[in-house]
Amino acid sequence: EKAGYDWFMRKEIYEQPKAVLDTLLGRYNEARELTLDEVRIADSELKRINKIIIVACGTAFYSGLVAKYAIEHWCRIPCEVEIASEFRYRDPIITSETLLVTISQSGETADTLMAVRHAREQGAKVIAICNTNGATIPRESDAVIYTHAGPEIGVASTKGFTTQIAAAYLLGLYLAQVRGTKFGDEIAAVMTELESMPEKIQRVLDNTDQFHALATRLSDKRSVLFLGRHVGYPIALEGALKLKEIAYLHAEGFPAGELKHGPIALVEPGIPIFVVVPPHGRDQLHDKVISNIQEVRARGAQTIVLVEEGDTEVEPYADEVIWLPKASTLLQPLLAIVPLQIFACEVATRLGHDVDQPRNLAKSVTVE
Ligand code: BG6
Repeated sequence: EKAGYDWFMRKEIYEQPKAVLDTLLGRYNEARELTLDEVRIADSELKRINKIIIVACGTAFYSGLVAKYAIEHWCRIPCEVEIASEFRYRDPIITSETLLVTISQSGETADTLMAVRHAREQGAKVIAICNTNGATIPRESDAVIYTHAGPEIGVASTKGFTTQIAAAYLLGLYLAQVRGTKFGDEIAAVMTELESMPEKIQRVLDNTDQFHALATRLSDKRSVLFLGRHVGYPIALEGALKLKEIAYLHAEGFPAGELKHGPIALVEPGIPIFVVVPPHGRDQLHDKVISNIQEVRARGAQTIVLVEEGDTEVEPYADEVIWLPKASTLLQPLLAIVPLQIFACEVATRLGHDVDQPRNLAKSVTVE
């Protein structure tokens, strides 16, 4: 049932083009309208929303962090993202104008479920992004957007993550459509790009030789750092989480701009640092990340840089370059996470760990 793969996790990494495609399928019609039929919340209610709170745990939390950037940009609604276990017990501000969005692959995570119950008691509407049909969280929510990733067996989530981003983006565009903050043409442009992502993810998966060699070189390291800015920041966090979960390595993700406020003290000669470089844009993000790379390189770090094809500016400062197909800033996470998933899987395999069933972890945690 692993279809020739050594691990379910690896199989699931390679299923991502199809998983993302299936998640997008049938949700945008020929009249160029998003049709999230499962979202049975009246447009009038969605127009009243003045705050979105995304709650989730683990990998799903990081997909929520990515989604925040897109949702606020497209909808101009303040969007908070919170770890589910922290949310419930701090007396959060929830009204009938709050939209709670949960993200959970299993739909059974107790911390997330408790957040749903609490928010509904306070009068909030709840939309679940979930991969498991009929699970408890979607059953207890007002609406559900299913990710169509198929069953995820590996404890470390991979296709769960990328499909959660796709589904959360669909929700963001849907809200923008309903509330009129984006016009049809703008939504169409994003949808066209979203629909091109499965093929681009496939291109990343077709060029993985480099990751195997890299894993061999880095598997005796004790600590690995990940840096990113904007949506690259949650990708850094998720890349580090993969390595913790299955390779049991100390790994941390940081916002690249925060380096100088502390984490740079960790940089010592030979430490591997992965850096996600955003595409060139009108903002200064790209150049800022390039200078962050120079800063850590000057202190002896071994830099592994994920950057879009054709962006050669970074090459002089990179010990290793991982080329990504071109994508806009908001969609790059769907590509940038893939090499980091493979890298974690490779390192864990070399270290002799059970990749699918890492120590101390469970696929779904049904206790608070
Ligand atoms: C953890 C799993 O316990 O739960 C993680 O080990 C997962 O892989 C997290 O990301 C959240 O799970 P779910 O099902 O709510 O997305």
